[in-house]
Amino acid sequence: MKKLNLLFFGPPGAGKGTIAKEVSKHYNIPHISTGDMLREAVASGSELGKKVKSILDSGQLVPDEIMLDVIKDRLIKEDVKKGFILDGFPRTLPQAEALEKILNELSNPITGIIYFEVDEETIVKRITSRRICPKCGKIYNTITLKPKVDNKCDICGVDLIQRDDDKEEVVRDRYKVYMEKTYPVIEFYKKYNHFFTVDGSGTVEIVTKKVFNILEAIE
Ligand code: AP5
Ligand code: MG
Repeated sequence: MKKLNLLFFGPPGAGKGTIAKEVSKHYNIPHISTGDMLREAVASGSELGKKVKSILDSGQLVPDEIMLDVIKDRLIKEDVKKGFILDGFPRTLPQAEALEKILNELSNPITGIIYFEVDEETIVKRITSRRICPKCGKIYNTITLKPKVDNKCDICGVDLIQRDDDKEEVVRDRYKVYMEKTYPVIEFYKKYNHFFTVDGSGTVEIVTKKVFNILEAIE
């Protein structure tokens, strides 16, 4: 079986985190979300968290040199050897170039890239109605993926929260930053054989099925 070293690419709110969690469970490979890692650092009050909090709140990108330290520390961990899903990294061309170098040095290169295509209005609607569990990280949506009990996590029972950067004006800024700095990175990845574009605008069930079909084909 081919190793699944995956990169999930796409705008904020495209469903990268939602689908990555399913893929991670199914194939038992780690879901590496740099956004989740940074939010954990903010919540813990670490030096890194203090440095990046205002950047996250404004929807801008954390500088490349900080992100490269974060991702290098994660990619050298033992669990990454069995495969991984990168979500939210890389977001700039220097990050993409550095990632390729790091993974080549580890003899663990990317084997599949999935690009989730979703338009801006769908994104704004999805993100402003997103809720997350502060304990287990499960992602909900007050319109499309409601919890069983209003505003409580199905698994942990704790109150759901809204991300600080999920206000409409910040979401629009994040989308702008994505189009300017991240979207062009697609050109870097089109050279790969296993580059797949998925229409991410369908229901979660439909998009999840499309992704699993692709993964079964490259497995
Ligand atoms: P990050 O956490 O990566 O945020 P993002 O890229 O903006 O992506 P999101 O997490 O908002 O969207 P998603 O695609 O995961 O969607 P989800 O599945 O949750 O980054 C946050 C910040 O950290 C950045 O702004 C930056 O400051 C910093 N950062 C992180 N990485 C960095 C890097 N490499 N370099 C520099 N800075 C970095 O779904 C969204 C909602 O829609 C949910 O409510 C979900 O339930 C719902 N939903 C999902 N799929 C569907 C569907 N098919 N139909 C209907 N609803 C759906
Ligand atoms: Mg996410």
